[in-house]
Amino acid sequence: MSIQVLGTGAYVPERIVTNDELSTMVDTSDEWIRQRVGVAERRVSVSENAAEMGAKAAQKALEAAGITADQLDLIVGATVSSDFGCPSMSAKVQELIGAGCPAFDVNSACSGFLFALDTAAAFVARGGIRYALVLGAERLSRILDWTDRSTCVIFGDGAGAAVIAPGENYLASHLYTQGGESVLSIPLGKGNSPFYEKDVAPLAVHMSGQETFKFAVKQIVGEIRLIAERAGITTEQIDYIVPHQANIRIIDLAARRLNVPMEKFVVNIERYGNTSSASVPISFDELVRSGRLKRGDLIALCAFGGGLSSGACLIRW
Ligand code: UT7
Repeated sequence: MSIQVLGTGAYVPERIVTNDELSTMVDTSDEWIRQRVGVAERRVSVSENAAEMGAKAAQKALEAAGITADQLDLIVGATVSSDFGCPSMSAKVQELIGAGCPAFDVNSACSGFLFALDTAAAFVARGGIRYALVLGAERLSRILDWTDRSTCVIFGDGAGAAVIAPGENYLASHLYTQGGESVLSIPLGKGNSPFYEKDVAPLAVHMSGQETFKFAVKQIVGEIRLIAERAGITTEQIDYIVPHQANIRIIDLAARRLNVPMEKFVVNIERYGNTSSASVPISFDELVRSGRLKRGDLIALCAFGGGLSSGACLIRW
C-alpha cells in the first residue's frame, strides 16, 4: 500500500527537568512518578517553540532520507501546543527548513502522528507526490498547569519526523475518534470577548487519568490485533511495537494482554515523559537509529489520547 519510510529524525530541547526538581515545585516525589508513570526526567523547552523543534527533527529526517527540503511536495504535521493558531506549525516548519510545498497541521492530540501519517499516505496514493514530510512537534510545557501535580509530572517537550515516498511498505492502518471533552481536553480559555456567556476553563491540560488509562490499554490491544489481521499476519510476527509513551504501566499491561514480550516494545518514557504527538516519531527514530532493524522487519506504531482518538499502522522496513 502506497508508501515507504525513507528516513526519520528527532529533536529534544537541552533543558532536563528531573523528578526531584519537580518535587520542589509541587507535592510529589521521584518514587511516585517512577512507580505510577515510569518517568525519571523530561525535556522542557526554554526558548524554542514547537515549529522550531519540529524543523530540527525535520532536518535530521531529510538527511537520513538523503533529500533536501526543496524536494518535498507536502508537509503534514501534528501538534496541540503550537505558539501560534496561525501560521500552522507545519507552515512555520516549511519556512524554517526552506521547503516550498503545501503544509498543514492535523489535530488529534497524542494520536496526531498516526493521523498525519495516514493523511500523507492518502495524498501519496492520490499521486503526484515524490516526497512528503510527516512530523509531530510539541511544546507541552507552555500549556501545562505547573501547579497541578496530576498532569505536570507526566509530559515533556520534543519533536519527531519522517520522510515518506511512494512504496509498498505501509501494510495496514486504522484511525479512531470518540468525540468529547469529558475525559481529556485542552481548553484555550475564553479570550476577552465581552459577548461570551459560558464559563470556560483556563488554558491547561485537563485529564481524567484513570479513564484515559483504560481507553489506552483497550485501544492499543484492539488496534494492534486489527492491523495484524488486516495485513494477514499474526501479532507474534510483529518484530517491534512503537507505542505512545504515556505510562509504562499502560505499555506493560498491553504487552501482557497481547502476549507480546516487552523487549519488542520501544520504551523511552523514562527519559522524555509523554511528548504527545512527538512521542511515536521520537521513539520510531530511536528504533531506526539503534541499528536493530533488518530489512523486512514488521513495525507497528500505535497511539491514543485526546479527542478521544487512537490510531495504529503496520510498516514493513
Ligand atoms: O497522552 C494522553 C494519554 N494520557 C494517558 O494515557 C494518561 C493515562 N493515565 C495515567 O497515566 C495515570 O492515570 C496517571 C499517571 C495520570 C495517574 O496515575 P493513577 O495511578 O491513575 O493515580 P490516581 O489519579 O488514581 O491518583 C492516585 C493518588 C491520588 O491520591 P489519593 O486520592 O489516593 O490520596 C492522587 O492525588 O495519587 C495522587 N497523585 C499524586 N501523588 C504524588 C496524583 N498525582 C500525583 C503526583 N505525586 N504527581
